[in-house]
Amino acid sequence: MNPHPIGVFDSGLGGLSVVRHLRQLLPNEDLVYFGDTARIPYGTKSRPTVVQFALETAGFLLRFDPKLIVAACNTASALTLDVLARELPVPVIGVVEPGARAAVRLAAGQPVAVIGTEATIASGAYVKAIRALAPAQPVIAQACPLFVPLVEEGRDGDDEIVRLTVETYLGPLRSQGVRVIVLGCTHYPLLRGAIAACLGPEVQIVDSGRETSLAVQRHLSQHDGLSPQQSPGTMQSYVSDNPARFRQVGSRFLNETIEHVELVEPEQYVGRPRVPH
Ligand code: DGL
Repeated sequence: MNPHPIGVFDSGLGGLSVVRHLRQLLPNEDLVYFGDTARIPYGTKSRPTVVQFALETAGFLLRFDPKLIVAACNTASALTLDVLARELPVPVIGVVEPGARAAVRLAAGQPVAVIGTEATIASGAYVKAIRALAPAQPVIAQACPLFVPLVEEGRDGDDEIVRLTVETYLGPLRSQGVRVIVLGCTHYPLLRGAIAACLGPEVQIVDSGRETSLAVQRHLSQHDGLSPQQSPGTMQSYVSDNPARFRQVGSRFLNETIEHVELVEPEQYVGRPRVPH
């Protein structure tokens, strides 16, 4: 048993779509979340910048003495998990490997599509993780850069602009025999209905946030790391900008009201040395 909190970080509020599953699966765990709202998006930035930001953002969580850190951001997971695992003194679980594993299981050799930010797709991390599990697995990777701003603006699947954008990016997948699609970005679960409507019922959807939460549950069970407390776990949130917006928009991702959000000043999280790569 381990009473320490689980730390979760993201480039902004999107990681709350992962926290939502963590709260459901592990209701007695205390969570500390840091969203780097001052520097979102990570998905259009280069690897050295994302490495620096991820080290600083995850590094901030260390002051809460977490038993584990979840890199809820797909872009940070795809570009920096190796560095985080090397540099941080606690285990780090990213979203790419759990999503890839579920996709391979469901696809049974049929084509898989992976969608994400420009940086996630350019990194090739999902394709690499899928092929490490199933070398002959057909994979199509597609960046969908307009999805994040659409979701941040509060548009959902009933919106005509969303429907057209989803059709533009994903319509061509229909003729390619795709049977599984991985939502490789924190924001995409909010467009799940529009994505399902575009691809049809024969395409199964993998939410990498949910798969990651299952991986966290497995890890804690296997390492005697579950919280001993019987009461509901707490949730503390920290952001690097605009707590009011985080509270308002974030509750759509979390599906519950966000009570406690604190602004973190830059000197509390920046300044970790840049790691050579
Ligand atoms: N959290 C990011 C991800 O999952 C999306 C937003 C961003 O570009 O920072 O890739």
